[in-house]
Amino acid sequence: MSLSIVIMAAGKGTRMKSARPKVLHKLAGRPMLSHVISTTSSLKAALEVVITGHGAEQVESSMKAAFADAPLKFVRQEPQLGTGHAVQQAVPVLPDEGITLILNGDTPLIEAATAQALVDACAGEKLALLTINLDDPTGYGRIVRDGWGEQVLAIVEHKDATETQRALKEVYTGMMAAPTRLLKGWLSRLNNNNAQGEYYLTDVVAMAREDGVGVVAAQPRDEVEVLGVNSPAQLADLERRFQAVQAGKLMEQGVRLADPARFDLRGTLQCGSDVDIDVNCVFEGSVTLGDGAQIGANCVIRNAVIGAGVVVHPFTHIDGDKDGVRVGDGSLIGPFARLRPGATLGREVHIGNFVEVKNSTMADGAKANHLAYLGDADVGERVNYGAGSITANYDGANKHRTVIGNDVHIGSNCVLIAPITLGAGATIGGGSTLSKDAPEGQLTVARAKQVSLSGWQRPQKIKR
Ligand code: UD1
Ligand code: MG
Repeated sequence: MSLSIVIMAAGKGTRMKSARPKVLHKLAGRPMLSHVISTTSSLKAALEVVITGHGAEQVESSMKAAFADAPLKFVRQEPQLGTGHAVQQAVPVLPDEGITLILNGDTPLIEAATAQALVDACAGEKLALLTINLDDPTGYGRIVRDGWGEQVLAIVEHKDATETQRALKEVYTGMMAAPTRLLKGWLSRLNNNNAQGEYYLTDVVAMAREDGVGVVAAQPRDEVEVLGVNSPAQLADLERRFQAVQAGKLMEQGVRLADPARFDLRGTLQCGSDVDIDVNCVFEGSVTLGDGAQIGANCVIRNAVIGAGVVVHPFTHIDGDKDGVRVGDGSLIGPFARLRPGATLGREVHIGNFVEVKNSTMADGAKANHLAYLGDADVGERVNYGAGSITANYDGANKHRTVIGNDVHIGSNCVLIAPITLGAGATIGGGSTLSKDAPEGQLTVARAKQVSLSGWQRPQKIKR
């Protein structure tokens, strides 16, 4: 049976107190709405409709960029007159047959298995609601059942509920699945005679009862799946819960996290065996850590492949952006190192404190241990790149490459003005500024000759 998905994402999110549309606020580095769309992609829906309203253009362009291949349709809801009114906007684009699954853009951690269970419970003929029992159900729509607690009779919104109804702990999570043809009929009968003057989607429950359609409930595996975000505090709370789940999975695989409460993964992290990660590290995009890799405290690592046995010392920033960063087996990086897009390091490369490497290759055993810059360079094997040396790779208009042969030794404080080639085995005297190639195997020095003046007098303080 064909599946259509409707994701409600038009609300203002007043309590976020932000100019950004609520569903674009990020959880684990991605907009909340992106989480929902990613999750539902495994459900193989024929159509996925996102209802936008507040900040619609921003929401639509952000999702189109993130999910270019998904069967996404955007339908605007202006003004926003309630959840029932939101789904009414999708009616013209929904097919008459099949099942419609309704989800929320601000409830990011819903799992595919739970959504599928809801669709299965609907089975093309019933109205299936996702419900959960909460110790504190304040604010939620309450599930009203018959005297035996079996049949669902209605959902009553908190603001419309009686004291007895408010004592009910079973609440509606905002997610449901219904036969599309029946849903369309119910939506056309909604009214806004209630405490909030809104068109409530939840009124379809009582209509299903009237029509003799079965109403069933399904529950999520975990409460975290149905937690919606309305405020910065709720967003931060959900972020920590999500990080705890991710940290738990990694530790189950054998990854040693010094403190799972001080760990953030905003993307995917693949780890070999015996990986140690110290506190306050942030992993973004796609990161791979080889066997025995050790990541020191306070590192930020994005889009990088880190080899086996690599030690990344504290406070190192590795940012692969789109080009990625590769660090070969046994390399030592940091503390306070910066690897930028296109840094490709071979085996046993050493990068020390305050060294920046961008769009450069460094062959096996090359070292840049202190205060240096390598941009647009190809560095040979076993090169020793002295403290304070830099490649001057940018002439103000274009970037140029620096090629450094194997076994070159570069003294401290050198400026290599690109394009330039240093032949294998060359030695460059400290303090040199080179604008011409240096030949193989020779010492090249380009600085003023040292002079000493005999008989020179140091100035004396004049006494008055
Ligand atoms: C809704 C349910 C309530 C349930 C709760 C779970 C109704 C009437 N009530 O209440 O039973 O317990 O969710 O969180 O459905 N939205 C639109 N357009 C609108 C209004 C809302 O797109 O005109 C979107 C919001 O962006 C949000 C979702 O619908 O993603 C839910 O809206 P919200 O106002 O938060 O509903 P609640 O009052 O929380
Ligand atoms: Mg809500």
